[in-house]
Amino acid sequence: MKSSSVFFCNSCGNEFAKWAGQCPACHEWNTLVETAPFLKTARTKTGQKVALKPAESFTVKTALSSQTGYTFSTGIGEFDRVLGPGLTKGGVYLLAGQPGIGKSTLLTQLALSLSSKNHEPITNNSVLYVCSEENPAQVASRITRLQGPSLKADNIKLLNTSIVENVLETINSDPNCLVIIDSIQSVSTATNPTTPGSPSQIRDSASYLIQAAKENSVPMIIVGHVTKDGDIAGPKMLEHMVDTVLELSGDRQHLLRLLRSVKNRFGPTDETGIFRMNSTGLEEVKDPGAILLEGRVKNAPGSCLTMIMEGTRPLTVEIQALVVASPLPIPRRIAKGISGNRLQLICAILTKHLNLPIATKDVFVNVTGGMDVKDPGADLGIALAIVSSVKDKPLPENSICFGELGLLGEIRKVGFTDKMLKEAKSLGYSEVFSPLSHTSIRSIKLT
Ligand code: TYD
Ligand code: MG
Repeated sequence: MKSSSVFFCNSCGNEFAKWAGQCPACHEWNTLVETAPFLKTARTKTGQKVALKPAESFTVKTALSSQTGYTFSTGIGEFDRVLGPGLTKGGVYLLAGQPGIGKSTLLTQLALSLSSKNHEPITNNSVLYVCSEENPAQVASRITRLQGPSLKADNIKLLNTSIVENVLETINSDPNCLVIIDSIQSVSTATNPTTPGSPSQIRDSASYLIQAAKENSVPMIIVGHVTKDGDIAGPKMLEHMVDTVLELSGDRQHLLRLLRSVKNRFGPTDETGIFRMNSTGLEEVKDPGAILLEGRVKNAPGSCLTMIMEGTRPLTVEIQALVVASPLPIPRRIAKGISGNRLQLICAILTKHLNLPIATKDVFVNVTGGMDVKDPGADLGIALAIVSSVKDKPLPENSICFGELGLLGEIRKVGFTDKMLKEAKSLGYSEVFSPLSHTSIRSIKLT
């Protein structure tokens, strides 16, 4: 009898007939799981094979002309900024984020925005919201909460199903300007017997949905959950299958939410949209610096203002450090908002090049406002905050810094150095520690 299961790699998406501890293709360990094979022959709903017909072919000219009017604005400025041109017809977007971060809220606002007015060049403004995770009543109550008493949401169709075939049928029967699948982990296709959320189920369901979006030329946003480690749950392959991967991040205890694009076939990946979660949903933030520096204690030892780049926007954040004698044989290095490895490295640089006595001290570093800083330009700020805490002296009043630290103690230039310097000047900082003013960490003398 023909075996009905195969082994599927969660990391690279390859299929194998036999199980192995290490994936023969991508060499990752413990990633093979037993699943049902993907049906390679296209079938109709009733299971018959689809009649083959020649595929449509284009010349460069006709392909380009068929693209006119392909993108349209979402009506939410910060969302458009991240997408580049706006939503693209037939484009498939994966929106990933931790549970409770605001994915459904953002998509509900998007649905309201697109359904309430005509956004050139789209004339149809009906939005299909597939509520596979919540029930339509929950989504409807969120719509009411976001929209207020003047409720006008007749163009949003809430689809109460988690069966992919039903969704496909609805997408194919009526035109929409946007399809939202909330979420891919909770839908399933009848062609795959595994439970919703399993890697092969996600792969199969996503491939049918993507095909439908492309055939109907409708943009589709798929919500994807994130695992504890911060990866998008399900096969890594999902990220290859979609056109754009968007990530909504932030600290649930804080209000700021950042929308970044990790992959974008239609535009840049270096833009960040900044929102603030409040009682009426996600509000666009034009001046994030003010929120991040709210309640800052001035002239405190261990506090350093740092300029970082979020996308193409300079942003001012406060880095705080606390250095205290450690009761432990191996002192702790604890980082919040920056990577732990980065902190270890900066401590090593300070020990070597400044003879900073931190070998027996615990070092804690925090970025205020719940920001997650990935920009290496924050290195100098982390270093100066630590030095300031060790010496118990505040940094010069009205000063700011930015720059990457090298292993030799040198301060290196980061992208957009000139732009950051200009921004620091325009914000009125009197002293700027940067690669332009100092070449090495040793040359910064703090009085
Ligand atoms: P949600 O969008 O459901 O998160 P996700 O889909 O990413 O899991 O909402 C997350 C949180 O946002 C929820 O705990 C309540 C809060 N929230 C507000 O603060 N204001 C609002 O207007 C809404 C709709 C939600
Ligand atoms: Mg949700």
